[in-house]
Amino acid sequence: MIYTLINLFLFMYDVTVIPGDGIGPEVTEAALYVLEATSMQFKFHEARAGNACYNDTGTTLPDETIKMAKNSDATLFGAVTTVPSQKSAIITLRKELNLYANLRPIKSYTGVKSMYDDLDLLIVRENTEGLYSGIEEYTEYGATALRVITKKASERITKVAFQQAIKQGKTRVTAVHKANVLKKTDGVFRKTFWKVAEEYKNVDDYKNIIADEVYVDAAAMFLVTNPHRFQVMVTTNLFGDILSDEGAGLVGGLGMAPSANIGDDNGLFEPVHGSAPDIAGKGVANPAAMILSSCLMLQFLGEHQDAFKMEQALIRVLKGRVSTTPDMGGTATTMEMAQLVREYFEES
Ligand code: NAI
Ligand code: MG
Repeated sequence: MIYTLINLFLFMYDVTVIPGDGIGPEVTEAALYVLEATSMQFKFHEARAGNACYNDTGTTLPDETIKMAKNSDATLFGAVTTVPSQKSAIITLRKELNLYANLRPIKSYTGVKSMYDDLDLLIVRENTEGLYSGIEEYTEYGATALRVITKKASERITKVAFQQAIKQGKTRVTAVHKANVLKKTDGVFRKTFWKVAEEYKNVDDYKNIIADEVYVDAAAMFLVTNPHRFQVMVTTNLFGDILSDEGAGLVGGLGMAPSANIGDDNGLFEPVHGSAPDIAGKGVANPAAMILSSCLMLQFLGEHQDAFKMEQALIRVLKGRVSTTPDMGGTATTMEMAQLVREYFEES
């Protein structure tokens, strides 16, 4: 009895859940259904953000949502429909929670139509500055955006890339930039990357990792022609956004692409896709990206065994094909696919 109580106490996680708009609530429901089968106790706190939230409350991101996310162990974020005239809920959340690293795994799975069947690389994207600094203004001739690159942000994102390489058993970290043209901003990014890489050469754990660099335009091409040359790519905000969607395209599209937003003391996990208004309400959204995002959350919480088991259960469903959603060539609904993932998870 006492152990049960201790167990309950130890393994209770507070998770803020932001379903959002469109297919956001559909894939969130599916992921929560699978998460409920894990060995941990979760307390899910639902919070609002996005377009419907704006229509009801006048803001795309209420203060209560930010506060709740700050006080939770982790946040799950479905997807929101952008309100063009308003601040972006997800970009604001990343900033408010200081989630400076965006981790986007690019992995191929058997049964999923991909350009390559054995890809496993990680894109580490700086999440707080660059061209997404949000500092834009109209000028007499059009408009300008300020590309902010700091040594501090470049250093911490490079460190995350090396740490992730160690965690995932990878041996190469590649900086992606355009320092030949963006001499000052990417000059700072590049110089900082090499400073960290040099320091790590003297650290036991890191000394076998090869550091190198590729210009972003060439990187975009290599991702298609020779993606195996990459293991961990680290880059600035906009380049990372574009390259990771390209990466998602290599391994089965947006329905398969998860992401983690990590800071020093918080994490937010979300599929790369948006609210997909074209298929919303039809029950056919692929829940894989959201389930894989939940796996990333479990890893972040240190629950590696359940994370592994959940990914394996999903892999089994993908291999079977029939019980996947139409975008994967199957005939299942979002919840039917989630049910089978849960069933396989419980069997394992
Ligand atoms: P999207 O990612 O919502 O959809 C692009 C295409 O992929 C659509 O054809 C959609 O049906 C398909 N798709 C996306 N997720 C899928 C899934 N799970 N299963 C099957 N098919 C899927 O991008 P789009 O259409 O450009 O944007 C729609 C809205 O979402 C916009 O308001 C956009 O601003 C917003 N958005 C929000 C994001 C977020 O919440 N983090 C990220 C990207 C876009
Ligand atoms: Mg994107």
